Amino acid sequence: MESQTALVITLLLLLSVPIILIPRLKHSSIQFLKWPRKQSSEITSLRMYPIKSCRGLEVTQTILKSHGLDLDRRWMLIDTSTNNFLTIRQIPNMTRIGTALSPNGHELIITVPKSGPETESVHTIRIPSHPTPDWLTENTHIDPVRIWDVDTDGYRYSEAINAPFSEFLGRKVALVYKGPTPRILKGNGDPSILGRVQTTGFSDVHPVLIASESSLKELNQRLEKKGVDSITVERFRPNIVVKGGKAWSEDSWKLVRITGSSGPDCAKPLDLDIVARCARCQVPNVDPDTAGKHKKQPWDMLVSYRRVDEGVKYKPCFGMLSAPRNEGVIGVGMRLEVLEETSEHRYMAGF
Ligand SMILES: *[C@@H]1O[C@H](CO)[C@@H](O)[C@H](O)[C@H]1NC(C)=O
Repeated sequence: MESQTALVITLLLLLSVPIILIPRLKHSSIQFLKWPRKQSSEITSLRMYPIKSCRGLEVTQTILKSHGLDLDRRWMLIDTSTNNFLTIRQIPNMTRIGTALSPNGHELIITVPKSGPETESVHTIRIPSHPTPDWLTENTHIDPVRIWDVDTDGYRYSEAINAPFSEFLGRKVALVYKGPTPRILKGNGDPSILGRVQTTGFSDVHPVLIASESSLKELNQRLEKKGVDSITVERFRPNIVVKGGKAWSEDSWKLVRITGSSGPDCAKPLDLDIVARCARCQVPNVDPDTAGKHKKQPWDMLVSYRRVDEGVKYKPCFGMLSAPRNEGVIGVGMRLEVLEETSEHRYMAGF
């Protein structure tokens, strides 16, 4: 009888061991159990370029939509003789067209330099940042437009709004807002590869570009060694900037998750498929303040060591192109966690 009681007590004690130990484990040694640890970083900047190729704006919080950050590349400028889009590649001065949001966020405020001797003075244009269908019907007309040799459509603004742009760029141009015809992702974002049909506005191919500060820092160290001034991340026109871990560790990212801080208003996690590395052209050579284009850098430096993608052998890569899986609030300070990595990234031209 006594030995049976002793056995029961021993069993109860043994059963209580996990109850006492597990909570402690969670706080101390759980990190060892999760080896290898997933890469994780923090969002330090969110940037949108409402008018393609023009100067963008920085926000602390916005909405990630499946087509990109809320106001990113919703507008572009077209040459009215061809209806073809204009790009900073051919017209560096486009970077001197500024965009900002009104304090309540309802208006996009565009500043276009005035031509003439008073180089500091600007035309200021205010348009609704989220135009309603009624506003578009009353104030614009729908027109076919071309971007990267593909026809789509856009709501074309009135001559009163377009005039300052034409004057500044020295040719007849029009501002257009993304029309209803979907621009389905191509290249690495093609539905047959992505597994879903996803669209974007007037970004080149993919909705969201993610850049790492530690990779930029590594690039800048190389530039400084050559006696070249370091550059800002704005040169690469990213949407989401993260602190980053080891420089260029983002090259292998495949799926990332963005999560808010814990608490009652904790935002729901946002998942983004990293579809490709971003193959670069010479736009990063353009100083966003002055529109002056450096003859060599950072292009030459990037070419010397960042031709890392088999699919695009002659172009250097900086940043990762992504397609959001879901939509929601995104803010500076949120965490980015790498859920999946791959060694199979291979760039496919989307235009
Ligand atoms: C940019 O505009 C300025 C005038 O504001 C002009 O002097 C300059 O030549 C333009 N740059 C280019 C590359 O067209």
